[in-house]
Amino acid sequence: MLIKNIKLHDKLYHHEDNPFITDDEYDKICLKYDELVNLYPDLGFTPRKQIGFKPKRQFSKLKHQKPMLSLNNGFSLDDIENFISKSKKFLSLKSDDDLEFVCEPKIDGLSISLIYENGQLKSALTRGDGIFGELVTENILTIKKIPKSIKNPPKFIEIRGEIFMFKNDFNNLNLKQIENRLKVFSNPRNAAAGSIRQKNVAITKERKLNFVAYTIGDVSDELKIKSQSELLKFLKSWNFKIPENVNCIKNIFEIKQYYQMMLNKRNNLNFEIDGLVYKVNSFEFQKRLGFISRAPRWAIAHKLPSNLVETIIENIDVQVGRTGALTPVARLRKTNVGGVFVSNVSLHNEDEIERKDIRIGDSVLIERAGDVIPHIKKVIIEKRKLGSLKYQMPDYCPSCNTKTFKKENEAVRRCINGVNCQSQAIEKLIHFCSKNAFDIDGLGERQIKLFYKQNFIKKFSDIFFLNSFKSKLIKLDGFGELSLENLFKSIENSKSISFEKFLFSLGIKQVGESTAKLLAENYIDFENLKSELAKAINKNSNSYLNLINIDQIGESIVDDLISFFENQSNSNEITKLLDIIKIQNKKDKKNNSFFSNKKIVVTGTLKSLSREEVKSILIKNGAKVISQISNNTDYLIYGEKPGKKISLAKEKKIQILTENDFINLIEKKL
Ligand code: IVH
Repeated sequence: MLIKNIKLHDKLYHHEDNPFITDDEYDKICLKYDELVNLYPDLGFTPRKQIGFKPKRQFSKLKHQKPMLSLNNGFSLDDIENFISKSKKFLSLKSDDDLEFVCEPKIDGLSISLIYENGQLKSALTRGDGIFGELVTENILTIKKIPKSIKNPPKFIEIRGEIFMFKNDFNNLNLKQIENRLKVFSNPRNAAAGSIRQKNVAITKERKLNFVAYTIGDVSDELKIKSQSELLKFLKSWNFKIPENVNCIKNIFEIKQYYQMMLNKRNNLNFEIDGLVYKVNSFEFQKRLGFISRAPRWAIAHKLPSNLVETIIENIDVQVGRTGALTPVARLRKTNVGGVFVSNVSLHNEDEIERKDIRIGDSVLIERAGDVIPHIKKVIIEKRKLGSLKYQMPDYCPSCNTKTFKKENEAVRRCINGVNCQSQAIEKLIHFCSKNAFDIDGLGERQIKLFYKQNFIKKFSDIFFLNSFKSKLIKLDGFGELSLENLFKSIENSKSISFEKFLFSLGIKQVGESTAKLLAENYIDFENLKSELAKAINKNSNSYLNLINIDQIGESIVDDLISFFENQSNSNEITKLLDIIKIQNKKDKKNNSFFSNKKIVVTGTLKSLSREEVKSILIKNGAKVISQISNNTDYLIYGEKPGKKISLAKEKKIQILTENDFINLIEKKL
């Protein structure tokens, strides 16, 4: 019976790529089997063996010379049209002017930065968090298709592109894995990533991996390349493979044709693509367009239609997040959606459940487009069983059992018990240690939950005293001398942190990465922000007005910031942390610039530069772009039809700059 059971799950796992139980459940059955083998050694059957290809944490990290950014996504042709018109507007082109784009397939693989010094491939880094990547040089050196040297090279260059596996090689690899009773990969991307992000070079060498180059990062000398299309030719002359099916297009009609052509070709390509990438061709324009947050303004990924798969909602659980938001999560009958196993999907909030009328037991369609998180597309009402009941969100917090609240105009129901609610406390700690916050290797969800329950870590500052529990920790399952040393080391290393990451790590409502960055840029020094927030409790103070006046920061964010810092236990915790850690405040690098630290309002229509571009130039030069004129505004830059702001500026004796004044200043002084 036991063997029959294992065989069934082996078949579902290997041959149908659709396991019905988790790996842990499977392992438990295999343990029982091991006990049986002890009694009857010659059963003549071996269950599949597991080898782990979970992202390994033991690679050293290195900073990219230039950050590796991601792309914004567009889903419909409207999104792409919008992207084109916004790019033109930013560049002050007319809407019917042509703007050239290079269209490339978006290969679904693993992005890599290859570092060549004096023409020799010296190191290779994965994307990591975009700032620091993992050093995977030895594995990359085994890939024959990556040139190990380049001719007439600059002294230093980062060549970037995608490592991927051809579909036929991927299928062959899985057949081999099945034969050897090893793990089956769910898609070529996972297989490529798993082959690079593991430590056994011999395994990487066996895997058939490919590389295409599509961009460069930092480079020591000027290459005199003026566009993306020239860059691709240049990379080809260095013997790099470049993407196939690249087109140069000039307008949305040509994009439509390209999109249709690629859609028809998609299934016949021997590699997986999850979208198309449209890049403004001219480097001059790319430079002007620049970046916003973590993505360039000059490019967009156009996602291809997604995969839809039917499954069943077996249950709905409610999770309590770090800000107390209750999020319903559907537990699904595990299914493979376009190469990725899905067993849970977030239902976001009760309004979403109500809108789609989602119920336990429903048959649903799950949608997954590229790297977008899978979600429920729709309920198949015809399959609903008689007597099924509407889903009700709990009135009491599933973690701490206090009453939950939902404001009338908000979609989210909340537990307001703060850190007294175990789930919230744990989620806050997980966020604090996460990659884009304190980035503590070895303190993930599992460890934090364990240490919280054992009373080793209850609040942020406790993390930095974890080593005082060493004698107890070493007795826990899975913690050896070496892993603990590594953990203490990464806790120690995390003590030096940038202002923006520190602010982000505190988990303040509405303060995500870009808001934290904006605040750090505006306040330079954490202590400065803290004291300004204390003064801003008075809504008539200049401190309050300055805060709400920052472009993209509104009253509701400021209210959340003030109440976070006003809270006594938060402020005690921050004081404790400040004794332990060292915040790297923003350096005022742009001190020499005319506009540095100046508060500037931009109004009216400008002739040669768009308002967006003026703002972006000002921010690059250390200015603070604000939305409303106040007594401490330094300059008003105006174009045509400036409206009321110009008279207000005159009244307040604020210096007024015309578009020409501004252009003269940037040309001369910046
Ligand atoms: S350009 C500044 N071009 O897509 C951004 N990316 O979502 C530079 N990708 O991390 C990326 N094919 O791993 C670019 N032809 C292509 C691509 C491509 C695949 C991946 C890449 C990147 C991700 C962004």
